[in-house]
Amino acid sequence: MHQSLVILGSQWGDEGKGKIVDLLTEKVDYVIRYQGGHNAGHTLVVDGKKTALHLIPSGILRPHVRCVIGNGVVLSPEALTEEIRMLQERGHSVIDRLHVSTNCPLILQVHVALDRARETARGNAKIGTTGRGIGPAYEDKVSRRGLRVADTADPAGFSEKVRELMEYHNFTLTNWYRAKPVDVESMIEETLEAVSYFKTAVCDTVDLIHRCRRNGKIMLFEGAQGSLLDIDHGTYPFVTSSNTTAGGVATGSGLGPRYIDSILGITKAYATRVGSGPMPTELFDNAGKHLAVKGQEVGTTTGRGRRCGWFDAVAVRHAIEVNSISGICLTKLDVLDGLSEVEICVAYELPDGNVVDYLPGGDEYLRVRPVYETLPGWDETTFGMTSLDEMPKAAKQYVERLSRVVGAPIDIVSTGPDREQTIVISTPFGVD
Ligand code: IMP
Repeated sequence: MHQSLVILGSQWGDEGKGKIVDLLTEKVDYVIRYQGGHNAGHTLVVDGKKTALHLIPSGILRPHVRCVIGNGVVLSPEALTEEIRMLQERGHSVIDRLHVSTNCPLILQVHVALDRARETARGNAKIGTTGRGIGPAYEDKVSRRGLRVADTADPAGFSEKVRELMEYHNFTLTNWYRAKPVDVESMIEETLEAVSYFKTAVCDTVDLIHRCRRNGKIMLFEGAQGSLLDIDHGTYPFVTSSNTTAGGVATGSGLGPRYIDSILGITKAYATRVGSGPMPTELFDNAGKHLAVKGQEVGTTTGRGRRCGWFDAVAVRHAIEVNSISGICLTKLDVLDGLSEVEICVAYELPDGNVVDYLPGGDEYLRVRPVYETLPGWDETTFGMTSLDEMPKAAKQYVERLSRVVGAPIDIVSTGPDREQTIVISTPFGVD
């Protein structure tokens, strides 16, 4: 049985990871987040009831599961406190099943102010961030001036460090961005108050993870965002500020790469993207509208409409390779029901007419044109199907073709938002 399983998105996020994590956690002891912050939005539907999570791992809805926020996650104490409260009000025990790394970099209110001021300053060239302070918090981490959860254990020392940091940030806010400064003392007070709400959950999560590994616990590493938003391997600069790809598991949790047993790439049956940046298969016609409306493509975190397009097999193949994805979970296939034809982007045409089957680097990616393969659509509904045999022939053909073009097996097909609406072809745990 596989002990360490990674689940991550192979496109631009919003592939439906939350449902799959929740589904698989039936057999899991620990669910671990290793990158990103509360920019993520994972929607879970259990018994028809929707829960949106941003920071706490999606395993939290299963009472037997323990959840870890690893050192690679940038942590907003206010957002975590709010999420714990929301879950507790809904009857879930949280704090006694949650472990937060002492090494998580903190997202302070000033990071939110900087994120928003920067986006405003970029004007039309804006990234389209979630405005949660993610980028500035990671910048502080990498520049080695950031504060971490551990710093809050000494409130006086913490306050001093924040005051020093704020001389720099408030100078930038007011003099460079011409924005309002952030009130330092109230920010310190509110941060410390929020941390006190979950301080019993703070621990050395690297040690915890390795104790779990030695004791044979099953661990699921839950990715946030998607591979093409990776700071190194995504469509830079229109990316998030963390490593969303599988390498981030090792750095963001402390699990050495050789301990990873399998990597499941959650892959939507078409493409979506929120925020700015290149998206070669984006549609502006009725097919695009069909995907947006039927797929209810609205962001969980920001409420923004998602851009929609045909399946981009070149981009997904790139994700398969940089992540070493072992199997795919295909989601939202039913959204394609009712289309007379479906297209798969199998290559890109460059401005000079050359056709390539990989992601060109630099600005060239902005100018590629998709080369499509057209397949017949299907009228029948695939919604809620629990077996491949029930599937219309054309839908099955589409799934098989996708698998072949991207070069990875389809292990799971998700046919609706509920746990039950799933076809498991091969379990990512290695054995049943
Ligand atoms: P940031 O992560 O808020 O800095 O935003 C950077 C880019 O990542 C923007 O295009 C966001 O729309 C995108 N992004 C961040 N989190 C998510 C997510 O959970 N799903 C999809 N896109 C995301």
